[in-house]
Amino acid sequence: MRELVSNHKLDFIDSELESLKKQNLYRKLQYGKSKGAHITINNKKLLNLCSNDYLGILTEEIQTNQLQSSSRLVSGNDESYNKLEEILAKHKSQQKSLVYPTGYMANLGAITTIAKKGDVILSDELNHASIIESCKLSDAKIIVYKHNNIQDLEKKLKLKGKNKFVITEGIFSMDGDFSPLKEITELSEKQNAITVVDDAHGDFVVGKDGKGTPNYFNVEKKIDLYISSLSKGLGSFGGYVASKNNVIDLCINKSKSFIYTSALPSILIEYSIRRFKSNREKQKKKLEKNTNRLIKGLKEIGFEINSTTHIIPIVIGNEKNAMKFGEFLMDNGIFAQPIRYPTVPKNQARLRISVTAWLSDRDIERSLVIFEKSYRKFR
Ligand SMILES: Cc1ncc(COP(=O)(O)O)c(C=O)c1O
Repeated sequence: MRELVSNHKLDFIDSELESLKKQNLYRKLQYGKSKGAHITINNKKLLNLCSNDYLGILTEEIQTNQLQSSSRLVSGNDESYNKLEEILAKHKSQQKSLVYPTGYMANLGAITTIAKKGDVILSDELNHASIIESCKLSDAKIIVYKHNNIQDLEKKLKLKGKNKFVITEGIFSMDGDFSPLKEITELSEKQNAITVVDDAHGDFVVGKDGKGTPNYFNVEKKIDLYISSLSKGLGSFGGYVASKNNVIDLCINKSKSFIYTSALPSILIEYSIRRFKSNREKQKKKLEKNTNRLIKGLKEIGFEINSTTHIIPIVIGNEKNAMKFGEFLMDNGIFAQPIRYPTVPKNQARLRISVTAWLSDRDIERSLVIFEKSYRKFR
C-alpha cells in the first residue's frame, strides 16, 4: 500500500478532532437498517427509539422509473408536484405551497427570500440549526429571544425594523415542548410582525387531521408562513413552505435552494401523496397512546420528564454520562441516541427518545423495564 504523505497544511484538522474527543463531543457514523419498530446495527436487532417516522404509515412500494434529474425550473417539475402542492396548501389553509428537496432547504429558501436588509428577525434561542443558518444568510438583523419567553419577545419586538419577523418552531425538536403560539400570534398582531412557524415535528402529527401545531392552538389563520418537512410525521422525504400566493411566487423566483438544485424525483412526490391519503388518523391515535404510556412510565420510574409530546428528552447533563447511558441502552436492545453540543447547549446532553406508532404495547413495556434498570445506574 502507498504510504500517505504527511500533509502539514491539514494537521490542524487532527487537533480539532482530538479536541472533540477530549470533550466527549466526537461523532461517528453508524450503519443500520431500519424496518418497522426495529433497527439492525452490527447484526444486532434493536428497538428503535430514534426514528422520526412518528406515524409509521405502511404503504405499498411504488413502481416507477420517473427520476427527473433536473431543476424544477428546467425540466424537473413533474406534474405530481402540482397535486402534492395543492394538497399541502389546503392542509395548511393557505393559498399556495411549494415543495423543496428538504425541510432544511425550505427554511433556507423561504427565509432568505422574504427577510431583507433593514428587517429584523426575532428568533427563539432553541430554534433548529436550519433556521439559524437561514437567518444568518438573510441580510436582516437577528435578535434572539429567550426560549418560549413571551415577556422577552415583547420587549425585543419593540425594536424598529422595516419588516419584523418572529420565527419559532411549533414543537421543538430537541425538547419536545410546544411554542406558545397563541401568545406569539397575539403579540405579532399587535406589533405588525410576520409570524413564521417551522412545524417539522408537529406537522401531520398534532391538530385536527394532523394539520399541525398552529391548528392545535387554533391560530392556523394567524400564521403568515409555514415551513415544514415531509420526512418526519409523513415518513416520506422533502420539505415545503405554505403561504400567500405572492410569497410562494417570490420563492419560486428568488430562492436559490429552489432554483439551483435538482428536483426531488417524482417517485418521492407520489410517495408523499400516498402517505398523506393513508389512514393517518389511526396511526395518530396509536402514537398518542404510545406517547402517553411512555411518558407516564418514565415519570413513575422517577425520570424528570417535561415533554407532553412524542419527543421525550431525558436530560443527563454531562456528555460522557449521556454517551454511557446510550451505550447501556444499546447493550440492552434499545436504540436511543445521546444528543450533545452543539445540537443542544453544553452540559445539557440528553437522550432524545422519539416515540412512533410502530411500537407495540409490548415494545413500550419492554423498554420501560430497561429504562428502570438504567435509572438505578445513571441517576
Ligand atoms: C425544526 C426542524 N426544521 C427543519 C428540519 C429539516 O428538515 P429535513 O430533515 O426535511 O431537512 C428539521 C430536521 O431535523 C427540524 O428539526
